[in-house]
Amino acid sequence: MSLTPLIAREDLQARVQSLAAEIRRDFGPGVPVHLVAVLKGAFMFLSDLIRAMDGPVSCDFIAVSSYGSKSTSSGEVRLTKDLDRSIEGRHVVIVEDIVDTGLTLLYLQEILGARDPKSVKTACLLNKPSRRKVDVRVDYIGFTIEDRFVVGYGLDYDERYRNLPFVAVLEEVD
Ligand code: IMP
Ligand code: MG
Repeated sequence: MSLTPLIAREDLQARVQSLAAEIRRDFGPGVPVHLVAVLKGAFMFLSDLIRAMDGPVSCDFIAVSSYGSKSTSSGEVRLTKDLDRSIEGRHVVIVEDIVDTGLTLLYLQEILGARDPKSVKTACLLNKPSRRKVDVRVDYIGFTIEDRFVVGYGLDYDERYRNLPFVAVLEEVD
């Protein structure tokens, strides 16, 4: 396996700061925003994003798993950990690591949208548009990347590499 750096730590930090400012600007000062992070991949993005946001912000966590191997996403998404608190009447921002086929995000937008939130928006650190299978709305995107398997900054391969402070392309070498 070989790791090739793709997005440097400083570039991640700068982009996350500007996303936080953009989200706050869109909702307006003093408006409570509820960040719902998708475990586990989004935990590092969430922790930087929430620290960069001014005003009233809360967070909660949700976890999903998709059946089948990741490379051939079957489209079956299952909730493995639900939120701790109700989102009724709240401005929700789903915080996700990466949108690939879009199936996970579409599922989350549907189930959370059905719980009477005031609004549901989505922030994704990474976007791989070439692999999209469903048309899904993403309001805030950190970086759009090519169809490569990436790890680091929360993203894993078989639970490894989440600790890297940068994003890297993982490739098999022989
Ligand atoms: P989707 O349902 O195909 O959009 O899949 C999204 C999920 O697949 C993400 O939340 C990640 O957990 C995982 N994923 C997709 N691409 C990658 C990648 O390049 N590296 C690590 N995980 C990925
Ligand atoms: Mg994920």
